[in-house]
Amino acid sequence: MSITNLREELDKIKRASLYRELTPITPAGPTHGYIGGRKAVLFCTNNYLGLTHHPQVVEASIRATERFGTGAGASRLICGHSHLYEELETALARFKGAEKALVFSSGYTANIGVISALVGRNDLVFSDRLVHASIIDACILSRAEKRPFPHNDMNFLKNLLHSEKAKGRRLIVTEGVFSMEGDVAPLKELVNISAQHSCLLMVDDAHGTGVMGEGGHGTANSLGVADKIDIHTGTLSKAIGSVGGFVAGSCDLIAYLINKARPFIYTTALPPGIIAAATAAIKLLETEPSLIERLRSNIHFLREILTSGGFNLLPGKTPIIPIPVGDERKALNISQTLLEKGGIYIPAIRPPSVPAGGAMLRLTVSAAHLRAELEKTAMLLIELCRKDRIYP
Ligand SMILES: Cc1ncc(COP(=O)(O)O)c(C=O)c1O
Repeated sequence: MSITNLREELDKIKRASLYRELTPITPAGPTHGYIGGRKAVLFCTNNYLGLTHHPQVVEASIRATERFGTGAGASRLICGHSHLYEELETALARFKGAEKALVFSSGYTANIGVISALVGRNDLVFSDRLVHASIIDACILSRAEKRPFPHNDMNFLKNLLHSEKAKGRRLIVTEGVFSMEGDVAPLKELVNISAQHSCLLMVDDAHGTGVMGEGGHGTANSLGVADKIDIHTGTLSKAIGSVGGFVAGSCDLIAYLINKARPFIYTTALPPGIIAAATAAIKLLETEPSLIERLRSNIHFLREILTSGGFNLLPGKTPIIPIPVGDERKALNISQTLLEKGGIYIPAIRPPSVPAGGAMLRLTVSAAHLRAELEKTAMLLIELCRKDRIYP
């Protein structure tokens, strides 16, 4: 392929309003940043509790870096494993109510590692149509047969399971809180269906960990089925305020992954400062319940204003609020006006992150947002969406 081919391809992407560019942002706190020299409030960060800037988390990271250095130097199985990892994985297992946990370099690689280790050619994977790209990529990499089901459609799934027998394993995969829609999977029903059909059930709770359930223990906890999920995955990069992914489950599952999950085996361990920050954040969730209370009160406040302004939001208690726009160009225009007029940053979400014609503005709420910021954002959104005849 020549460079000219690449340009043609890029021009095509631009003409379809689907071109992506990196926007440099200088962080100025958990929910603020300087964009083009101007301070903006971010309504797109997954820093749900603002823990990236919590003094105890920052202090733990600095202390670990000073004592143990900036890098781990090798993969976990060579000499990159440390007592810091032991401490974090023990805390994560307790937090998820599982026997054991295992940390990966990211949530993306945790999903790739688990699925590609557990299923292969003779197996079947049943996944919700709206699962994250990391799960889709993991299924492709695993070479298992893929059987997607419409979003949260349990009847469709039951019929699929009745008609699709496998020679090997059958794995059901879903998310706790869906990353784009902000709604929740019917985990109680999924637990029953999975047990009736002798499947393994995996739940990626990247957006529910630290947010949903008592003490932020997650979506499965909020629905009373945490101990019925075979495989919990999640990330340390959202509410936990650090970076890395994790899997929690039985001792056998974790031992199997240590031996079989290639993205775990063949990569360098995370730096000490990252691990220490994540452990400090999990401890904070256990000792400072006001963090989650503030997040929930902000979510409620923003949802109330948007609803009274005419937005027909899906009912919910999660910090992800999608505003469907449809047309990519319109979504881009509103996003740009929000930034120019209000200093509010909400990038337009466009295909392939969402299906064609499904462009949206996706607001994410944080405990670190101020009431005045929530109110200003809601009012401006209402004004712009009315002007563009999107809503109401
Ligand atoms: C549902 C879901 N799973 C996994 C990931 C990947 O997590 P990470 O950013 O830690 O790689 C994301 C992140 O966007 C996500 O939304």
